[in-house]
Amino acid sequence: MKETKLWINGQWQDTEKSYELTSPYSGEVIAHIAKASIQDVERAIEGAQQAFQLFKKTTAYERAEILYKVVDIMRQRKDELAEILALEAGKPITAGIAEIDRTIATYQFAAEGAKQAKGETVPMDAAPGAGDRIGWTKREPLGVISAITPFNFPFNLVAHKLGPAFAVGNTVVLKPATQTPLSAIVMADIFREAGLPDGALQIVTGSGGELSDTLVTHPYVKKVTFTGSGKVGLKIKEKIGLRKITLELGSNAAVIVEPSTPIDKIISRCVSGAFNFAGQVCISLQRIYVHSSIVDEFTKAFVAETEKLIVGDPLDKNTDVSAMINPNEVVRIRDWIKEAQEQGAVIATGGVFTERSLTPTVMTNVTADMKIVCQETFAPIVSIVSYETLDDAIRLVNESDLGLNAGIYTNILSDALYAADELQAGAVIINDIPTFRIDNMPYGGVKMSGYGREGIKWAIEEMTDMKFISMKKSF
Ligand code: SIN
Repeated sequence: MKETKLWINGQWQDTEKSYELTSPYSGEVIAHIAKASIQDVERAIEGAQQAFQLFKKTTAYERAEILYKVVDIMRQRKDELAEILALEAGKPITAGIAEIDRTIATYQFAAEGAKQAKGETVPMDAAPGAGDRIGWTKREPLGVISAITPFNFPFNLVAHKLGPAFAVGNTVVLKPATQTPLSAIVMADIFREAGLPDGALQIVTGSGGELSDTLVTHPYVKKVTFTGSGKVGLKIKEKIGLRKITLELGSNAAVIVEPSTPIDKIISRCVSGAFNFAGQVCISLQRIYVHSSIVDEFTKAFVAETEKLIVGDPLDKNTDVSAMINPNEVVRIRDWIKEAQEQGAVIATGGVFTERSLTPTVMTNVTADMKIVCQETFAPIVSIVSYETLDDAIRLVNESDLGLNAGIYTNILSDALYAADELQAGAVIINDIPTFRIDNMPYGGVKMSGYGREGIKWAIEEMTDMKFISMKKSF
């Protein structure tokens, strides 16, 4: 049985306590995971602060080389890394390979970002009396960053924090999700092999409010970057004072399907957006608003395509949808579906539960106030709703506290641009599902879906301070 340790100051460190990590799919214990104490977290932060004194002096070239080396190593170990995802997250192996490919791209963008981080000159002579001065800005690393990451993309969402942080010379204390520590732990070895100095990456595993409080309020911590639930994100924001913060929170992503859309060309894409990784994706397609003239045709085709999905073992290459992350989540979504049914919602297909999974479920006859519509489901469930006018559809999408990505399918350019202006979202994806992200685009939400942006270029801005320098040409 695998027993893990904490990664502190370039050493594997034992802990007094540990917890059992179980497979979401089989329920079997797959490892014993070290549980960090508050003192361990403090030591990790202090070590990261010490490592920062040297790491901040490395050149962009040196940091980019480390990140390029990570890319090389991950390419060689791709299959093994995807298997870790299948084991601890229940992510189907094909989706796991896709995540590793994206992670490699993310570290590659970070390596390139290291070389592109730059300041600008300021036209000092444009101001009265400053003609004998020159002025410029530079980006400086912040210091220690606490990164708290979720279970759903245990490699790539970690990369979106480590990549930009290291690109500009910050050090990081990483606390991965309790359910997916193994993917973070393997990154310690990969970064060491790539030449990252000891202490620049510290990994603490475990859980508990006090542990998280230390991570976000320790005086050495200069920034917190968190991906997870809105509830936890808000709590962190309330605690951190003047520290910088990036919050990537949840959503109930929607797409509008206008009457000019060729349905046969979008159905399989919509189905994958709704059920990829059992809907446990912040931009999972949860609400589909279809024009009334095509809603019957759309629903029939969508249900037929959904019924083709194979539910099973994440290690089987044919599996499309596997277990949800834990049985409590299955109970939660079962209750939400039951409540919606009591309020009149209808299951068009799916709705079959086991202790660990839910078959891909399509709901109709839903209303905006049902939990399965207005809250983030994070489960393999999607609702189809009919509308009459584009303005109605936009109003329905916006009638939500959440706003990460939104999508619209239409052949009419002016309608696409109108929707892009009116939809309240961090990103509007035209002629595709909202479940779209490439790793060099800005990513983040409005309303309760987040604060700040990820995507290497923007994360680098948020992980650096701007310093302004002015020089007089003569005394
Ligand atoms: C997320 O679930 O927040 C990330 C989605 C993605 O990177 O595709």
